[in-house]
Amino acid sequence: MASSHEDAHFSDPTKSLLPNSSSSSPGPRTALIHTKSLILISSIVISSTSFVAAVAFAFLLLSSPTVLHLARPLSKLPRPTVILMSFDGFRFGYHLKAPTPNIRRLISNGTSAEDGLIPVFPSITFPNQYSIATGLFPPHHGIINNYFSDPVSGDRFFTTNNDPKWWLGEPLWQTVARHGLHAAAIFWAGCEVKKGSWTCPPKFCPKYNCFTFEERVDAALGFFDLPAENVPVLVMLYFQDPDSQGHVFGPDHPEITKAVARMDAVLGRLIAGLEQRNIFEDVTIILLGDHGMAGTCDEKYIFLEELFPWIHIGSDWVFSADTLLTIQPPPEISSQEALAKMRQGLSSGKVRNGDKLRVFLKEDLPESFHYAASERIPSIVGIVEEGYMVKYKREKQRYGCGGGHGYDHSLMSMRSFFVAHGPRLPQGKQIPSFQNVEVYNLVTAILKLDGAPNNGSSVFPSSILLQENP
Ligand SMILES: *[C@@H]1O[C@H](CO)[C@@H](O)[C@H](O)[C@H]1NC(C)=O
Ligand SMILES: *[C@@H]1O[C@H](CO)[C@@H](O)[C@H](O)[C@H]1NC(C)=O
Repeated sequence: MASSHEDAHFSDPTKSLLPNSSSSSPGPRTALIHTKSLILISSIVISSTSFVAAVAFAFLLLSSPTVLHLARPLSKLPRPTVILMSFDGFRFGYHLKAPTPNIRRLISNGTSAEDGLIPVFPSITFPNQYSIATGLFPPHHGIINNYFSDPVSGDRFFTTNNDPKWWLGEPLWQTVARHGLHAAAIFWAGCEVKKGSWTCPPKFCPKYNCFTFEERVDAALGFFDLPAENVPVLVMLYFQDPDSQGHVFGPDHPEITKAVARMDAVLGRLIAGLEQRNIFEDVTIILLGDHGMAGTCDEKYIFLEELFPWIHIGSDWVFSADTLLTIQPPPEISSQEALAKMRQGLSSGKVRNGDKLRVFLKEDLPESFHYAASERIPSIVGIVEEGYMVKYKREKQRYGCGGGHGYDHSLMSMRSFFVAHGPRLPQGKQIPSFQNVEVYNLVTAILKLDGAPNNGSSVFPSSILLQENP
C-alpha cells in the first residue's frame, strides 16, 4: 500500500519539478515514508507486546525528530553570517536542466521555495535586485525600471548611475553598516551608492568590472580570512548569468544547460572554500535569482506604429517597450484620451497581435502589481502577453528567437528560485512560494538586526526559521 501511494506521488505532475530526494538527507518525501513506517512499526508492536511499551516506543521514535527543529549553534564564527547570491535570470526549474549537485545539496539539506521565488513587477533586473536588497516594492525604492526619467527634473536614470537621489529605501548593506558591522557587496544593484553609514568601502565593495565569477567567489571567501573583527556578517554576490544566455538563446537552448552547470560549479567553489575554512555549517547561504525568462520569437510582435491611425504615439512618449510598455503622453494630451484611443486600435482586429497587449492607467493596474505610487512611473503601462514583444516600428531585419522578461510577475515563467541553507534553516523543507520583498526581513532576522520599514511581512522570518537553543 505504501508503495502504491508513492507511485501516485510520483505521477502527480505538479510534483515532477521537485528535486529528487535520493540522497540520504531527510527530504519531505523521506519524512512522509518515515512517518508511515513508524505507524506500521507501532501497530506491529501494539499487537505483539504490551500497550504501554508500545506507546513509550512510539513516543521515543516520534519525539526524537523534534531535535531537528532547533537551530544548530554556531561552531566557529562569532556571529550569524549570511551570503546572499543572485543568479540573474535563473528561471525556476533551471536546476533540473543539468546535473546541479551543489544546488541540489543545498535544497536537500536546506529550505527551498516549492514553486520558486516570485519577482516584483516589473520582472526586470534592477527593480528586482533592489527589491531583494530593500524589501520594498519598486515605487518605494525608486528603481522602477532599468532606465527611466525623473518627470520633474527631466534627469535620466541608467543602471550605472550611483547618485543616491535615485536609490530610496535602506538596502541590507546599509542596515548592516548602521549597526556598526561590516557588509560586503559585489556588483549588486545599488551597492556602489553611498547612503547613510554605507560608504562602499573599496575592499568590500569593488567597482563594477568584468571580474570572472570565480574571482568574485574567491573575493568573498577571502573576507573570511580577515581578522575576526573585520569579517563581514553579510556578503552579497551578483552574477549576470544565465540571464545573458537566456536573452540571446531563449530559456530552452543547450547554451542555458551549459550556463546552469557553470553556475552550479560557481556555487560548488563557494561551498568548497567554506568547507575548507570549516565554516560551511555556520554560514547561511541564500541562493536566489531576480526573475525568470520566457522564449520570444519573430512574429510575436506588436508594432506601435500600427496604432497610428487611432493615435500618433511619439517615439519620445515611449519610456520602455519590448516586454513592458510604459508611455507618458506630453502634457497637452490627456492620458485617459490616449489610453482610450490605444484600446480602440488594439481591439479593432487591425493591429497585429493587438489582443496580446493590455494597456492601463498605472493607478488602474491590479493592486498586486504595486506599480503606481511613484511619479517616476509613466502614466500608461502596457502588460504584454508572455512571449510577445512591443516594438515602436517594424524594422527591416527579422527578429529571430531569444528570450525576455519584464512581464506580469505572477507568470510561472517569470519566477526564479530560492534556496536557503544554514544553522536556522530546516533541512529538506519546501515552503510555499513567496515574493522576493520577504528576503530583507529574513536576512535581518538571521543577522539579528533591526530592519528598516519595508513591504515584507514581519512574521515571514519566524514562519520559516528554526528556534534557537534557549
Ligand atoms: C546535511 O546536514 C547535516 C547536519 O548538519 C550534516 O551532518 C550533513 O553532512 C549534511 N549533508 C550534506 C550533503 O551537506
Ligand atoms: C511599502 O513600504 C513603504 C515603506 O515602509 C510604505 O510607505 C508603503 O505604504 C508600503 N506599501 C505597501 C503596499 O505595503
